[in-house]
Amino acid sequence: MAVTKEELVEVLRKVSYPGYSRDIVSFGLVQKIDITDQAIRIHIVVKGKDGSVLQQIKQDVEKVLQETYPQYQHEVVTEAQEPPKFSTTTQEKPEQFLPNIKYKVAVASGKGGVGKSTVAVNLAVAMAKLGYRVGLLDADIYGPSIPLMLGVQERPLYDGKKIHTIEKYGVQLMSLGFLVDNSEAVIWRGALVHRALQQLMNDVAWPDLDIILFDMPPGTGDAQLTISQSVSLDGAVIVSTPQDVALIDAIKGVQMFRKVNVPVMGIIENMSYFVCPHCGKRTDIFSHGGVAKACQQYNTDLLGEIPLNPSIVEGGDHGVPVVVDKPDSPESKAFLEVAKRIYEKVSK
Ligand SMILES: Nc1ncnc2c1ncn2[C@@H]1O[C@H](COP(=O)(O)OP(=O)(O)OP(=O)(O)O)[C@@H](O)[C@H]1O
Ligand SMILES: [Mg+2]
Repeated sequence: MAVTKEELVEVLRKVSYPGYSRDIVSFGLVQKIDITDQAIRIHIVVKGKDGSVLQQIKQDVEKVLQETYPQYQHEVVTEAQEPPKFSTTTQEKPEQFLPNIKYKVAVASGKGGVGKSTVAVNLAVAMAKLGYRVGLLDADIYGPSIPLMLGVQERPLYDGKKIHTIEKYGVQLMSLGFLVDNSEAVIWRGALVHRALQQLMNDVAWPDLDIILFDMPPGTGDAQLTISQSVSLDGAVIVSTPQDVALIDAIKGVQMFRKVNVPVMGIIENMSYFVCPHCGKRTDIFSHGGVAKACQQYNTDLLGEIPLNPSIVEGGDHGVPVVVDKPDSPESKAFLEVAKRIYEKVSK
């Protein structure tokens, strides 16, 4: 009996994308399948320039074909496609902000309160733990939460020319919250938002770094656009919770970044499930799987799932992020894994 394409697709589903639990078929990487009497030919296209990923996929596909169809000849062709980059064709090239920082990534969401700041803080500390030189810029000028979440009370040094970053848990920080009193209500209008954000980049002596994360304010308004347009962001990471309402807004975020030519690196599902601290059992509190489905539909990656856990709230309230406070907990491991994935992806 000849092999059918349908059968072959099912067989290819056994091959997962390196580092992910999802398979290469559901990622949409299999572009073409040709079956003749003696040979099977498969064409796989991967976005990005990481040769080791291509090599790994090729090997895994060859292995599964050899196991399942030893009577056929196999040819596996892999091709790397450039991911979309910030447009350089426009006349007015954006002013170079933060030229001494290799990668610039926004942590954003459409909806407020989904855990952007928590995720940004823990990812930044996790990246520092992985050995990278990391910065975290609190771009939420309406409600800066980095000072509280990292327990920073001191004021930054001003040397007459530049403001110096504050280091905590190995991360270089800047927040408007360091400069303005908590009690002062700050009302920012369009042009001022623009200026305040530019000052947090230009008037701060950011050291040479591998990566900077921007903790973005909620929504898709002025601040998001200012950052996306004035910094050539290497990517945006969207945070969502599993509920539909959050997900709808997450998609708006995805679309906004795409409109301004910022590559969307994927979505992180936060408060994804609950791991019982006593018995280790996992419970999906909200209906699970919506974010993964949306990722597929909007052609982006599910970057990871962070469990819901009261220790994350405590950590945030006490200024000790969970990756520092409980480094062996499932949530810390999840943050470390996502941090690794994001860095690998942006540095491809
Ligand atoms: N995985 C989690 N498990 C439990 N609580 C969490 C988790 N992630 C975030 N939280 C809690 O949810 C609340 C909101 O989180 P956070 O301030 O990070 O959200 P945000 O999206 O930055 O909000 P905003 O839109 O106001 O900036 C905080 O109390 C935080 O501790
Ligand atoms: Mg926030």
